[in-house]
Amino acid sequence: MLKGKHIILGITGSIAAYKSAVLCRLLVSAGAEVKVVMTPLAKQFITPLTMATLSKNPILVDFFNPENGEWNSHVSLGEWADCYLIAPATANTIAKMASGVADNLLLTTYLSARCKVAIAPAMDLDMYAHVATQRNLAQLKADGVYVIEPGAGELASGLVGKGRMAEPQDIVSEVEALFDEKKKSLQGKSFLVTAGATIEPIDPVRFISNHSSGKMGYALAESLAARGAKVWLVSGRTALDVPAGVERVDVLSAEQMCEACCELWPKCDGAVMCAAVADYTPAVVAEQKIKKGDGDMSIALKRTRDIAATLGKEKGSRLLVGFAMETENEMTNAVSKLQRKNMDFIVLNSLRQAGAGFRGDTNVVSLIDAESRVDLPLMSKREVADKIVDKMESILEEKN
Ligand code: PMT
Repeated sequence: MLKGKHIILGITGSIAAYKSAVLCRLLVSAGAEVKVVMTPLAKQFITPLTMATLSKNPILVDFFNPENGEWNSHVSLGEWADCYLIAPATANTIAKMASGVADNLLLTTYLSARCKVAIAPAMDLDMYAHVATQRNLAQLKADGVYVIEPGAGELASGLVGKGRMAEPQDIVSEVEALFDEKKKSLQGKSFLVTAGATIEPIDPVRFISNHSSGKMGYALAESLAARGAKVWLVSGRTALDVPAGVERVDVLSAEQMCEACCELWPKCDGAVMCAAVADYTPAVVAEQKIKKGDGDMSIALKRTRDIAATLGKEKGSRLLVGFAMETENEMTNAVSKLQRKNMDFIVLNSLRQAGAGFRGDTNVVSLIDAESRVDLPLMSKREVADKIVDKMESILEEKN
């Protein structure tokens, strides 16, 4: 996807600039020609020599070369590029871009760029969350700049939160997606995806759960995001990394998952309910670890809320896709869920089918709506996700 593409890599003064070296290398390995523009402060974080060696091009920092007076034309740079990627982008540079300030070569090049522009913000969590930064990011998005969401985790300050620059490999994937027009077909749409298993506590050390790894739901979130959609991934506990461009909302119990989904639903164009949600939860959660006695014991369970059915009642013109995990009477049970929960279509997978269901990297599914049933062969979960998203797209087109 990046072979022969001209990419300007803009680097600003952030500790995350050390990742720009890996990013540059990945872009060059993918076949792109890379020219690096740095702000003066960026040179304090990573040397021009490193970036010149990796990009195989001289580094541009000043408007002219002080030794021979040669002019570094931001206009011709802006015209040369197919993509201007600023990674890391500090709060300061984001603010200047949002208001059109042009006091260094990196910024004048931005104002001259006719190509796709993407930024990967990097800053401390409070700076990222600040209303001014969020306002500036919203302005840049409105101006057509593609924002590669920062990740959450430990920051250089020692604080933990959202603000870490996305990982270089994820940035490359997002830049590739910018060049893939098919993948941008859901730009401007927002979706909610549930994934993973819920956890219903019995006491402080025990819980009821199931075998879902989250792989199927995460593949769906990735597929939707790769086509340009805004994705909220409401996730039970998993060991998986958040896919690039996806916002994860962590939950544990079915009730927490239901609350998160109900809050997000009004903002969404659709939802895919892939999580394996507990249908029952302990009626009472013991405050202390339950001690064993001599005899048997039983735990009283009460029903959880059905999240898909709850969203289905408030569906309006939105798209609702569900899953059915069955072990018998597959078709009858799936059709019953499709109707009861007011879904547009349901994805049936059966534990009786080899390569389908929990934990593995593959699935075997049938896509069932009110009129039709399509049986898909064994595929990777990501390929299954793409087929599901294809069907979602065609229904959305019909609805509009
Ligand atoms: O996570 P993996 O290891 O990759 O495994 C993937 C998977 C097997 C979990 C996935 O493919 C799948 O089948 N997910 C749905 C599992 C399930 O709970 O199915 P169900 O038939 O019990 O539920 C029907 C639908 O109602 C589902 O969309 C479910 O998310 C939803 N539901 C169920 C109960 C509840 N209280 N609220 C719900 O929203």
